[in-house]
Amino acid sequence: MALTWKEKLADRMDPDLAREIDVYEMQLELKRQGKVDDKLFAETRLRRGVYGQRYDSGLRHDGVAERELRYPCGSLTKGPDTIWDAPGMQRIKIPFGGLTAEQLEVLADLAEEYSDGIAHVTTRQDIQLHYVHIDDTPTIMRRLAAVGITTREACGNSVRNVTACPIAGVCREETFDVTPYAKATSRFLLGHPDTQDLGRKFKIAFSGCKHNACGLVTLHDLGFVARVRHEQGVEKRGFEVYVGGGLGAVPYQAKLFDEFVTEDEILPLSQAICRVFARLGEKRNRARARLKFLVAKLGLEEFRRLVLEERKILPPDERWTAYLKDLPHYRETPSRPPRSLDGAALPEGFEDWFRTNVYRQRQPGYAVATVTLPLGDITSWQLRQLADIARRYSGDNIRTTVEQNIVLRWVPEADLPSLYEDLRAIGLGEGGASTIVDVVACPGTDTCKLGIASSRGLAAVLRRRLQERSHELDEAIRGLHIKISGCFNACGQHHICDLGFYGVSRNVRGTTVPHFQVVLGGQWEENAATYGLAIGAVPSKRIPEVVDRLSERYLRERQHGETFQSFIRRIGKKAVKDMLEDLTQVPPYEEDRSYYSDWGDPREFTIGDMGKGECAGEVVSLFEFEIQAAERLVFEAQLHLEAGDIQKADETAYRAMLQAAKALVRTQYLDVRDEPDAIVEEFRTRFYDTRLFWDKYAGGKFAHYLFHRHEDRPRSYTPEKAHHLVEEANLFVEAAHACRARMLERSGRETPAASGGHEQVVELKL
Ligand code: HEM
Ligand code: SF4
Repeated sequence: MALTWKEKLADRMDPDLAREIDVYEMQLELKRQGKVDDKLFAETRLRRGVYGQRYDSGLRHDGVAERELRYPCGSLTKGPDTIWDAPGMQRIKIPFGGLTAEQLEVLADLAEEYSDGIAHVTTRQDIQLHYVHIDDTPTIMRRLAAVGITTREACGNSVRNVTACPIAGVCREETFDVTPYAKATSRFLLGHPDTQDLGRKFKIAFSGCKHNACGLVTLHDLGFVARVRHEQGVEKRGFEVYVGGGLGAVPYQAKLFDEFVTEDEILPLSQAICRVFARLGEKRNRARARLKFLVAKLGLEEFRRLVLEERKILPPDERWTAYLKDLPHYRETPSRPPRSLDGAALPEGFEDWFRTNVYRQRQPGYAVATVTLPLGDITSWQLRQLADIARRYSGDNIRTTVEQNIVLRWVPEADLPSLYEDLRAIGLGEGGASTIVDVVACPGTDTCKLGIASSRGLAAVLRRRLQERSHELDEAIRGLHIKISGCFNACGQHHICDLGFYGVSRNVRGTTVPHFQVVLGGQWEENAATYGLAIGAVPSKRIPEVVDRLSERYLRERQHGETFQSFIRRIGKKAVKDMLEDLTQVPPYEEDRSYYSDWGDPREFTIGDMGKGECAGEVVSLFEFEIQAAERLVFEAQLHLEAGDIQKADETAYRAMLQAAKALVRTQYLDVRDEPDAIVEEFRTRFYDTRLFWDKYAGGKFAHYLFHRHEDRPRSYTPEKAHHLVEEANLFVEAAHACRARMLERSGRETPAASGGHEQVVELKL
């Protein structure tokens, strides 16, 4: 009889991991028998990286073409509701993005045998397989464990993948190689008892320098930047430590916890931080459970005091420093000796590829080659070929990047032309890495339950359009970054780029139309030093024109050496908004149907709603006028923020929320008074208590933005607080739009007030 994978791989798996997978398989069986509660099972599988996934249309744009999925999904339709054993997603943790050729091959096999034949690289250096059946997940985990990969704590309320600069160790500017530290931190915290009771996910990143910080330390719960100190002529290694960063709905920049923590202290310090987070972090309200909220609540000083106190009482653990003994011996092995480019004839297209996809290593004669993956996707066949190529040119020195690409390190420079040809032969010779063409996108409505608009569809279109013009693009435009998220959760990191977009929906004449918020002012450089703000929603189908207009104007009007962010700051967001105004108009369905479907998805976007609701004709409802006023106020708040008038920004953002709340209240009660207390009270009883305002996934989160601000009367004003409030006001107004759309959908069936408006609220642990 053929052996099972469990039997075949028994002596190749780490015993702890093997046991873990056995337990998981048992829980799966109990779930099948109906003996495990849904919620408990959800957290159980999520902690092993097994996600529920949105059903798909059966089509997938892989960045090159639209393909029909081979996965036997049956007649699945799009929509956020899925059942526990439907095809889902398996997230695979790749600490610091490090992979070997053998691991690539196993990933290729798994993608082919259990998924849709595509492995997807994420913005946190993970790999994801989509359309995986939950019954296959234990086998997937075993086959991964046999090559040293775990999916443990890839999701759930746990320490997620520890990321690091993909060029760590070979970078010309780094202080030192952070790889062994990232590896040790990842190992130490994995399954650690002190990380099992966190209220929310916890993300860690390492960076080799402060200036570039490819690790994106500032947007992590805990971030380390390499530093050295000289003490009595001896060089001492350590880290600048940051805490409490995070993107998500309201992004926070991490704060400096300590300027220099010696290398032997980083593991105990991380442990102490996890313990404080587990003990004092929010547990009930998921919307405020990330570390960033705890740091903000306690204040940095108090948080630091508590952590240092905790550190003092930790029982010593030899693992804190054991790995340091091996550090002097840590090195990567190239597969070939170094050799410089020798002037031999170069293949066509090589020079362009070289310019964007090759980085000269600190070690003479070697280079890092970036394999550009459109939308982060790579097919099983390509993965297998890439494993061969890596063996020949770079050895096991492969890493994924937060820009959803793969890099091959330690390639002898003289071999770059033939490497390029080999990559081209397998369809992976595209250039443009880290340029405007290299658009980053989260899974969006393709597979994510929370997606609102098609981030991947839009990314594919932008990529194609820009690619077609890539030769004529000015250097200044080529250097811009585009990042797209399917919703406000920011998995596509839309806050930290030149042109960011996140999906929202708008009800236009009774029909839902996919839109994207345009986010400007964010920065990728300087360790993501500034986060952008949304300036307005534009229909999904007109976003390519937004990119054209903004980039063309930048090219025309930029001053010498001016960055895109400085340019936007100089001309002002008001001017930008004005120049995009006409793009926000949506023609009636009869005139142009294209607006009513999303990119990469031929079906119409809830066209069944057409004609329903109060606005079937051209009548503009009172709500639409009033919500527009709220939008204007959010924008005004941004302008105050930009002008440095913090108090005014804060107050205007608050007024925007009141205005949006009032707009909703007035759909039920026209005579509500103008005083804030009256608006908040009516809003609370009519929209919050009834759950009409509740988002299916986020629950009452957005309403709390208004309540917190309203209750926080003796207000202190800081630029950071004001920035957050503007972001919150924006989300509140979006939530009002969504709430109104839900109400319109219901109208005709029952009146919202009479129904009590009880939306089912699904608690998702993501
Ligand atoms: C499968 C569907 C997914 C869901 C439901 C989901 C959900 C979320 C949520 C709710 C947040 C906000 C976190 C917060 O406010 O605390 C978030 C943030 C984030 N997610 Fe996802 N996510 C998904 C997939 C992904 C994927 C595929 C990636 C990588 C490409 C990703 C990367 C991120 C990043 C980088 C952030 C922002 C950084 C942070 O603050 O954690 N997510 N995600
Ligand atoms: S940003 Fe939204 S749509 Fe995209 S993966 Fe995250 S939760 Fe899903």
